[in-house]
Amino acid sequence: MDTGDFDADFVADFDRLLAWRRDVRRFLEDPLPDGLLDDLLARAELAPSVGNSQPWRWVDVRSRAPRRAVRASFERANAEALAGYRGDRAAHYASLKLAGLDEAPVQLAVFSAADPEQGHGLGRATMPETLDYSVVTAVSTLWLAARARGVGVGWISILEPGAVAAALDVPDDWRLVAYLCIGYPQRADTTPELERVRWQARTDPEPRRLVR
Ligand SMILES: Cc1cc2nc3c(=O)[nH]c(=O)nc-3n(C[C@H](O)[C@H](O)[C@H](O)COP(=O)(O)O)c2cc1C
Repeated sequence: MDTGDFDADFVADFDRLLAWRRDVRRFLEDPLPDGLLDDLLARAELAPSVGNSQPWRWVDVRSRAPRRAVRASFERANAEALAGYRGDRAAHYASLKLAGLDEAPVQLAVFSAADPEQGHGLGRATMPETLDYSVVTAVSTLWLAARARGVGVGWISILEPGAVAAALDVPDDWRLVAYLCIGYPQRADTTPELERVRWQARTDPEPRRLVR
């Protein structure tokens, strides 16, 4: 009988999963097996949410036209971001691969509903942003569930949210939280790509902690 207890081996495996989860931008073009995306979405639905509001909304972006529009939005946003850097930092930024839009077989746009009926407003009167935080917990859950199955996820935020929402023709009260590329990664690694290419390493956690 399943008692909901987790043994030491599972905990060790789970810790390995956390270490091996990566943001992936270099994908193999192999499709995901039928049903795998549904499986990942079912796991993501287990995430916590404010008032149990389940504000996440998923759009499986399959058609060529919206994919092209998202690609164009990335190009514009990326060019604008590049223009904000100077000198060596600009050259370094220009060399980064910041999206797997051309290779990943699955693209998933994740939105937050502004005022979902579920939850009846509980927990968000003073912090309405908790709806968005809830969506992020679902993305994070999906990310780990994917990695546990050998599938990589890459989160793209270098996008114009309005342009993406328009391209996908979603309801007006949906706000873009994440645009995910999903597929099999070209390589596995315990080091973030931005650390490997010397943009930003993980740093000492100590200065980020306070005791009061
Ligand atoms: C909210 C959010 C937005 C992100 N946006 C981008 C992005 O636009 N392009 C990109 O290449 N990586 C993006 N990332 C991935 C981060 O660069 C990555 O998580 C970080 O470098 C640490 O690497 P790791 O996830 O492999 O540990 C994003 C991650 C988060 C959580």
